[in-house]
Parts: sequence; C-alpha cells; structure tokens
Amino acid sequence: MSKSSLVTHSAPSIVSPNSEKLGIESKTQRSILKRKRSVSSSHIRCTTDRNDLIGNGIKDNVKCSLILSMRKLVPQVSTTVKWNPRDPAQMKAVKQVLHVATVPPTVVCREAEQKRVVEFCKACVEQEKAGSIYICGCPGTGKTLSINKMREQLSSWSEEVGLQPVEALAINCTSLVNASEIFSKILEKLKFSKKKKDCLTPLQHLQSLFSQSSSISRTMLLIVIDEMDYLITKDRATLHDLFMLTTFPFSRFILIGIANAIDLTDRFLPGLKSRNCNPFVVTYCAYSRYQIVEILQQRLETLGYRVFQPLALEYCARKVAAASGDMRKVLDVCRTAVEVLETELRDCATKEQADSVTFDHMDAALSKAFKSPKLDILQSLPQHQQIILCSLVKLFNSSKKNATTIGELNKSYLEACKSASVPAVGSLEFTDMCRVLAVQGLLKLGQSKEDRLKRVTSQIDVSEISFALKGIRFFKKFLED
Ligand SMILES: Nc1ncnc2c1ncn2[C@@H]1O[C@H](COP(=O)(O)OP(=O)(O)O)[C@@H](O)[C@H]1O
Ligand SMILES: [Mg+2]
Repeated sequence: MSKSSLVTHSAPSIVSPNSEKLGIESKTQRSILKRKRSVSSSHIRCTTDRNDLIGNGIKDNVKCSLILSMRKLVPQVSTTVKWNPRDPAQMKAVKQVLHVATVPPTVVCREAEQKRVVEFCKACVEQEKAGSIYICGCPGTGKTLSINKMREQLSSWSEEVGLQPVEALAINCTSLVNASEIFSKILEKLKFSKKKKDCLTPLQHLQSLFSQSSSISRTMLLIVIDEMDYLITKDRATLHDLFMLTTFPFSRFILIGIANAIDLTDRFLPGLKSRNCNPFVVTYCAYSRYQIVEILQQRLETLGYRVFQPLALEYCARKVAAASGDMRKVLDVCRTAVEVLETELRDCATKEQADSVTFDHMDAALSKAFKSPKLDILQSLPQHQQIILCSLVKLFNSSKKNATTIGELNKSYLEACKSASVPAVGSLEFTDMCRVLAVQGLLKLGQSKEDRLKRVTSQIDVSEISFALKGIRFFKKFLED
C-alpha cells in the first residue's frame, strides 16, 4: 500500500484507543467516507463500527462497505503463479508465513519507534555511557519483534563505524525462577562467576563491578528484558535496583525493558526520576487497519501467489483493529481462515471450490476467534476502567446486590487502587470513566442531579467481567481475594 494513505490515517493512541474501537472517524476518514456515500446508492452504510463488525445479520452490509473502501486499503496484487490450496507443500508454506514464530525479513510500520530506540542506543555507545529505555504498548504491537531486529542493526552499525562491538543479552522474564535471578544472568554474561567464598549477592557483585574502573571491560552490553512486569515484587526492589545499575560510574550497559503497561516505571519506580535515572520511554500504539493490511501483505508477498482475496484481508484487519490492534490475533485469524478453506476442500471434493481464502472463510475464522466479543472489549479497556469494573464485581459479590451508586463504586475503586498501590484518579475523572463504560454498553447509569447518587448497574453479567479480567495477571489476585 502507498505510504501516503498510511500517513493520512494515523494509528489510534494507546492512551485513548477508544476512538478506533468506537468507530470514531478522523476528519480525513470522514471526508473519504462522505465521498463514497455519495457515490454509492443510499442503502449502503460505509462506517464499520464495532457493532457492524460483531453482528452477523449485517454481513452483506459489511461486505458492501468493505468493497467500497477497499481500493484505498488493499492494492490488487498481480501475481503470475496461482496458489493451489490442494498442494500440501504450498499449504505448509502459507501456514508457515502466518505463524507467529516466523520472523519477517523486515519490520514494517515500526520504523519511527525503531529509529528512536536505535538513536538512543547509538548515543550511549558513542559516549560509552549507560542508559535505560522502557518500551511499552498493548500485546501484539511488535515490541519484541522490532527490538530483536534493532539488536542486529546496532551490532552491525558498531562494526561499520569501527566502534567496540556491542554485546547483547536478551532475557524473557517469564523464564526466570524468581525476579532476582536477573542479576545472576547479567553477571554470567559479563563472565563473572560467583566465587565460592564470595559472600556478595549477584546484585552486590554487579554494583561493585560497576563502581571500579579497572574491573570491567569497555565493551558495551545491550540488555533486553522482555515481559519486565514479571520483575515486579512487593517491594519493587528488583526493578529499582536493575534500573539503578545504569547510574553507577563505570556501568557500561544499555537496559531495554519491555512490558505492556504504559505507566509501569511511573507507577512502580517513582523514585527513579529524583535519582536522575528516568528511562527513555517509547510507546508502541495499537496497529490500525491500514498497518495490519500492510504487515500482512509484507509477510504474504514472499510466497509469490495470492492466498487471500483482498476483501478477506480487509475484513480481518478492520475487525482486529477495532478490537485490539493485536498482530498476534491477526495472524491466528488468518491461519484459521486458511484452515477453514482446507477443511472445505477436504469435505466436499466434487463441488466447485474457491482457490483462495474468501470473505466467507474469513468470516468463519473471525467468528471463531471472537466468540465472545465482550471478552475482547473487557480485556483491551484502559487499566483504570478495568479497575472500576473489578471494584463493581467486588462490591456486588460482597453485598449480594446488583446495583450501587457512583459514590459507593468510587469508594470501592479507591480501596482497589490502594490495595494494588495504583494512584487513583480524581472523582470527576472517575465519573467520566463510568460514562465511557456506559457508552460502551458495559455499565448503565441512572438519572440523578448529583453524580455520586447516580445508580450504577452492570450491562453484562459480573461473572463475565470476572472471567475476562482474571486472565490479566494484575487483576487475578485482586478478584480472588
Ligand atoms: N510490524 C510487524 N511486521 C511483521 N510482523 C509483525 C509486526 N508486528 C508484529 N508482528 C508479528 O506479530 C506477532 C506479535 O508481535 P510481538 O513483537 O511478539 O508483539 P509484542 O511483543 O508487542 O506483544 C509476532 O508474530 C510478530 O512477528
Ligand atoms: Mg512481546
């Protein structure tokens, strides 16, 4: 797709992802849609808000609106070789390309973020200075992928410019037995094994190494710590000590921490700022539908034949962008759609069959993936809105009632924030968030002159809220207490 069409449609912000979710269109989008509306006959609706995409009865409308807007989104790829979905080797190649573990040759749509990270690291290497970066963004936004690629870029750059090679260490914290194991991993990389008589802990050992000029080589070490939220302990000491290591006078490492929470460092490490150790933050926004199509096409073009009808790709991109912008989900759905076609070919050998993945195959795959659209909505809400819903569940469960007031809900919310050590928002902002939840059809607010007396009921079953939010580590314990 052309770069210009990408520029005119910016990705939704991670801080307020609801505009895309709620189908709020930008000025440019509105004018494009207006033009299309006037071209089309009066029946066809061109907006594709969440409800459009979730509902089944309006499938034809969705199909029509997609066809209208497609020329902008999905360029028609001319390929000479035709895909033969009956060829097991070709089918295997297609599934491979769509596999989440398959690393694409280049990372499109993340150039700006990558550049910011690379520039920061280059400056550290050139000045032989330690530093830290925090990468955040929703799941499936290419954080891990692009930082891995960036590591390669950095080491080839240091070779090219004749600087000391940059050594790299990548740790996924889900594989650690406990949080403090991170320090022994770093020590191992620096090739300092713990001596038997040594009574220093790995952390103290590192602190001592980075305090003396003679004890450490001048090689810069890039440490990528993925799923960094696994290092959050009750006293936050591990995370704090890790970042503080970059402030030691002879520290030679660049720390890149990756996690989903946008405010992890502010929330759990407020002390870093005063110690002049505030990490450089790079935020990865959820992918827009335009970006999703571009990424998919880049992955698929290596095949050399057309696997998906453009309409099918467009449908998938719109649906996932509206729900979460999670590329992992996109790849899963596309693989499922290929499998739907595969099953169809196997089950009805004689009937005339499609030779590529169609809108209907994609529709079946999306229905499977979004069995519960509410689950997806709940899991992709901003954190404070999720805390509000959690507080509501707690309140209803303890009082055995199914209605409360904004005032009562606010009390329960404040307790929840306190127990999770999360700074709570003020009462005005709280009421605004309740309104947003009501607009999304999750809460129902009654009428009252005074906000705090407004009646609050849930529009969805509280067990559904529990189920959805228990899947998020942060809420699991809170809901189980
Ligand atoms: N820009 C991109 N280009 C190609 N594939 C991508 C891109 N962004 C994400 N993906 C794919 O989506 C999946 C999830 O990406 P990942 O980097 O693991 O996300 P995150 O770390 O943000 O959760 C991976 O399979 C990855 O290859
Ligand atoms: Mg990741």
